[in-house]
Amino acid sequence: MSGRDRDLVLALETSCDETAAAVVAGGRTILSSVVSSQVALHERFGGVVPEIAGRAHVEQVVPVVARALAEAGFDPTGRPRPGAGPTGGIGVVAATSGPGLVGALLVGVSFAKALARAWGATFVGVNHLEGHLYASLLEEPGMAMPVVVLLVSGGHTLLVAMYGPGSYRVLGRTVDDAAGEAFDKVARFLDLGYPGGPAVERAARSGDPHSLALPRPMLDDGLDMSFSGLKTAVVQLVTRRPDLSTPDVAASFQEAAVDVLVHKVLAAAHATGARGICLAGGVAANTRLRERTREAAGAAGLPVYLPSRSMCTDNAAMIAAAGHVRLAADGPSPMDVGAEPSARFPERS
Ligand code: KG4
Ligand code: ZN
Repeated sequence: MSGRDRDLVLALETSCDETAAAVVAGGRTILSSVVSSQVALHERFGGVVPEIAGRAHVEQVVPVVARALAEAGFDPTGRPRPGAGPTGGIGVVAATSGPGLVGALLVGVSFAKALARAWGATFVGVNHLEGHLYASLLEEPGMAMPVVVLLVSGGHTLLVAMYGPGSYRVLGRTVDDAAGEAFDKVARFLDLGYPGGPAVERAARSGDPHSLALPRPMLDDGLDMSFSGLKTAVVQLVTRRPDLSTPDVAASFQEAAVDVLVHKVLAAAHATGARGICLAGGVAANTRLRERTREAAGAAGLPVYLPSRSMCTDNAAMIAAAGHVRLAADGPSPMDVGAEPSARFPERS
C-alpha cells in the first residue's frame, strides 16, 4: 500500500456558486480541475441565492470530488489507481474557508475535514482571495517577482504586491463596491441577465465606448479605488435618457471601469518597482480589461500575466496551489477551523 504524499493536494472550492475540486502536484502541476457551475439555478433570480447555493453544493460535492480524483488517477480513497500516473496517495486535503457564503463554505470545509480524517491526510483551510493570486503562478511558474496583482472579483477588488509564494502586501482596495459587483449591478439595471460581467461584455461589443461621458472616480487619488459612483452615474444617466442605446451604455461603463483598473495597476507597478503585472479574479476574464492591460504594460516595458479565463473565475486548482504554500509556511490547520465568511486577505511577509 502506498503512503500519503504531502505534495499531492486535493482542494475543494465552495465559497459561492461554483462547486469545484482539483488535484495539484507539487503546488504547480494540475492533475485535474473540475468545476460545476450553478449559474442555471440562480439565473432566474438575477443573483446568487445563498440557500440554493448551499443545497447545490451538498448535491454536487461528492460527484465533483469523485471526478477530480478519477481524472487525476486516484481511487475514491485518494490512493493511486494501479497503472495510473501518480505513485503516492493524496496527503493533503485543502478547502476554501473564507471569505464567502457561510452555508456554501461549510459544505467544502466539512467535507474536506471528513476526507482528511478518513484518509489520514492533512487538512488545510485556504483564504479564497489568496487562492486567486495563484492562478497566474500555476500557468507561469517562472514569473519574476515581485509582481503586482490586480484581483478583481464579484466581492473584492484588491491591488496586491506579491514578493514570492506566501509573501504579499495590500497596496490598495476598493472603498465601496467591488469591480465585479459594479458589472453585476449595471447588468441588472440594464436587464442584461446574470452573471452580469459577461453580459455587459457581450452587450458592449456592438457599442461605442466613448459615446457617453462617465466618471472615473478616484483616478489620481492613490491606489484605492471606487466603483459605486460610476454605477450610480450609469443609473442616473439612463433614467434621465431612456433613449440611449444599451450597447453604448454597456461599452461606456466598461471603458470607464477598465480605465480606472488599468491606471491603478500601472501606478501600483511603478510605485513598487514590480517586475510584472498579473490579473486575477472573475473580472480578469474581461476581454477589454485584458487588451488594455496588455497594451499599457507593453508600453511600460513590463511583462503581463493573464491567466486563462477558466483560471480567472472560481476554481479549485488555485486553492490547491495556495494550500500547498500555506501548509509549507504554517503547517496543518486545526481540525476545529470553521467557515470564515468575512475573512480578510492575509497579508504576510
Ligand atoms: O472570482 P469570481 O468567479 O467569484 C468571486 O470570487 O467573486 O468573480 C465573479 C465576478 C462576477 O462579478 C462576474 O460578473 C465577474 O466576475 N465577471 C466578469 C466577467 N466574467 C466574470 N466581469 C466582467 N467581464 C467578464 N467577462
Ligand atoms: Zn473568487
